[in-house]
Amino acid sequence: MRTRAKKKLLNLSIRNGYGNINVVVSAPKVCNFTFFGIFIVTIVVPELENVSIRLNNWFVDKNWIDRKKICRRLTNMFPGIANAKNLIFDSESIEALNKISDLLVSLPSPFYNLKFVKLPRGFKESSMSSALRSYLLGGSPKAAIVTKFPQNHGVEDSIADADRARHTDASVEGTDKDQASSSKGRIDSGLWRSHEVNYEFVCLLDRIMQKYPETFEHFTTKNKKLCTMNLNLLCTSLNDFTKISMTSVDSEMIFGYREVFSYLQNLGLNVSWAVNRLKYIEHLRFSKPLISELHSIDCHIDNAKTKLQELQARFDDAKIKQKDLLARLDDAKVKLQDVQTLRMEKLSEIEQAFGTMGTNLAVGFIGDDLLSNP
Ligand SMILES: *[C@@H]1O[C@H](CO)[C@@H](O)[C@H](O)[C@H]1NC(C)=O
Repeated sequence: MRTRAKKKLLNLSIRNGYGNINVVVSAPKVCNFTFFGIFIVTIVVPELENVSIRLNNWFVDKNWIDRKKICRRLTNMFPGIANAKNLIFDSESIEALNKISDLLVSLPSPFYNLKFVKLPRGFKESSMSSALRSYLLGGSPKAAIVTKFPQNHGVEDSIADADRARHTDASVEGTDKDQASSSKGRIDSGLWRSHEVNYEFVCLLDRIMQKYPETFEHFTTKNKKLCTMNLNLLCTSLNDFTKISMTSVDSEMIFGYREVFSYLQNLGLNVSWAVNRLKYIEHLRFSKPLISELHSIDCHIDNAKTKLQELQARFDDAKIKQKDLLARLDDAKVKLQDVQTLRMEKLSEIEQAFGTMGTNLAVGFIGDDLLSNP
């Protein structure tokens, strides 16, 4: 039973300020770790199930250089948790890693045992750089990126649960293969017009009904089971469809969705509105190269921004160094003046003791003036 298993689990949360903290954990039974902040960790745990990394609020009040440093320190943390099965990121931590993608390219993936990398709600998998993806997944060929753990996976992520509770109204996220059979219980399913559909689809169905009521005009609801399955299918497809970023639209995707929508039409769901959008997207994307050109300009903008930020950081660095050098320069000037004054004083001491000839001879040759013409 899941609940009983949950009680057996040992959870450990560690919170850090900004210091470089070394943590050694030797606890054979702990399987859920939550790190609030960045640590250098050594975890002696044979089965490290879930590791949550949360940098919420870590970047507040930090300048760009410090942020970059923090981002880099994240990578030093990973070798200590290399056997983690599930990695759970909050948006700050995954974005931090995304920012240092150029650095990640040269690093091998530290993880060798991963099953899932869980992204925070609202973070699009498509906005993850390919460098970050291969950094995280490169060492674990079977690993997958998810926004929600599969239901039969057994992972109880209290943070995810909290998120779920907070976002119930906007629940439009990835689905599981077994969701079509909605007999699992009240928690996973919701009621929509007496159909027991997936819980998170209720709002979506409401919205479809409101905006495109014709969708359900010829939808037959005789067989309850089939009806539920088809509604879930509709939602799953639309959910995925609406979240495709314009940059990743290609003809294969267009072709795929054309088939999906025509399949839905055959089920009696009139999704001509979605078909129209698909047509329009195809037109927008492929009738003229303008969108590709825009995307490539956006890439150039990103590169230029990165370059600018780097130079700005170097410039700021140089400014600090220059200030430092100026201070040392002033210091050197004062020191020179001091010893010059000291010399003057010493010469006048010599003059007082030995007269002018003494001072003249003090720094010259002992024969000076001795044989010269008068
Ligand atoms: C589907 O809906 C559209 C309006 O969006 C309508 O023009 C069309 O006739 C409908 N198709 C069927 C088969 O009912």
